[in-house]
Amino acid sequence: MKLTIVGGGGFRVPLVYGALLAKREALPFDEVVLHDLDAGRMERMAGVLRGLADERGATLPFRATTDLGDAVERADFVFSAIRVGRLEGRVVDESVPLSLGVLGQETTGPGGICFALRTIPEMVRLAETIAERAPAAWLINFTNPAGMVTEALQQVLGERVVGICDSPSGLCRRVARALGRDPGEMWFDYFGLNHLGWLRAAHDAGGDRLPELLADEQKLAGFEEGRLFGADWLQTLGMIPNEYLYYFYFHSDAVASIREGGLPRGAALLESQAAFYAENGQGAADALAAWRATRAERDRTYMAAERLAAGIESDHDDGGDGGGYEGEAMAVVEAIANNTRAIMILNTANRSALPFLDERAVVEVPCIVGRSGPVPVAIGPTPPHAQALVTAIKDVERTTIEAALTGSGELAVRALALHPLVPSVTVAREIFSGYRERIPGLQERFAV
Ligand code: G6P
Ligand code: MN
Repeated sequence: MKLTIVGGGGFRVPLVYGALLAKREALPFDEVVLHDLDAGRMERMAGVLRGLADERGATLPFRATTDLGDAVERADFVFSAIRVGRLEGRVVDESVPLSLGVLGQETTGPGGICFALRTIPEMVRLAETIAERAPAAWLINFTNPAGMVTEALQQVLGERVVGICDSPSGLCRRVARALGRDPGEMWFDYFGLNHLGWLRAAHDAGGDRLPELLADEQKLAGFEEGRLFGADWLQTLGMIPNEYLYYFYFHSDAVASIREGGLPRGAALLESQAAFYAENGQGAADALAAWRATRAERDRTYMAAERLAAGIESDHDDGGDGGGYEGEAMAVVEAIANNTRAIMILNTANRSALPFLDERAVVEVPCIVGRSGPVPVAIGPTPPHAQALVTAIKDVERTTIEAALTGSGELAVRALALHPLVPSVTVAREIFSGYRERIPGLQERFAV
């Protein structure tokens, strides 16, 4: 089997490679190819990967190339985790709305719209290359905003593109742990869109355990989402939202805290990652150590401003091991390659999982995953407020996709203005002109 990792110089590639090493038996890849536009960044990452293999006394040969056609030729699986415009672009996505008092975040709100506007055309090019050079491949997409990107690419590759995110499984693991249960023994009734979902029930053999958890303030205070949203609000909702819902339920708190913190998230990451990539030329063991230190800093400070706003003093809690970003990626590949029929929360076409959306809308719901890909389960009716929010955001997503594919500034402003976190059409226009001034290429692409 051949695996291609597009965005091979990206910061999370060692997580994927480490998981591949651990899964050598179940997933016998005989060809692993890294692709990136920047050979230097890829070389830096190759050092880290060599360090990982040395440390484990394992071998999994890989090669690196800047030629996309060569990289994807006859691949069985393609992982994509690219950041178009790099962290410099993220800084702009976040800081333009923040300067106007609006949420500035990588994927939620205006930041996610701008990120999608520049990412979708590049990802469509990748999908077209895959369609031509590796028509039987599965594209496992981590590229954010993952929901929108996956929906846009399904127009090219159909259901052979699957969107993944580590936050729903993280939530499920944390809830299982709070309940003293093994997550593998539970059924998690989760629904929504990427970075916009809710855990509605968590069943074990005895039934739904969520009501018991929601009634127990001590248990709620013991895990991330319980602390972030607070027992009162969770009891009012009767569900546990994905951590990204913090930006909707506590919008002004999040904005105030991010602004007080000084640096938007992208700027802080840019600083630490730039230092890491600048050290090219180190030996493998040192490269691995430098990467680990940078990554530990990232994990520790994840959602720091939001957590500060919620009064959380402890470090971020990822739910323990056994999952994460790389765990999700490997589980999807294993489920498809070995037809395991695993159940995973993935981004895929709705079919009729959420009855209020059409069949092509990409949703994030539990799926049964086997040789023919993910098949979403029926969710049925959902609480009206969640349905309303999902409907509004799906419309924003689709407007954004169309804007990205056509280069229509009018549609881009429409997407921004109709986003529930943007307070007025005037502000939407200001945000868009800020983006056009500061994002390279956007001015030319989007004539208004
Ligand atoms: C989670 C989300 C990803 C997102 C990342 C941002 O893992 O699921 O989609 O990209 O957080 O983390 P960062 O450290 O870059 O702010
Ligand atoms: Mn995600």
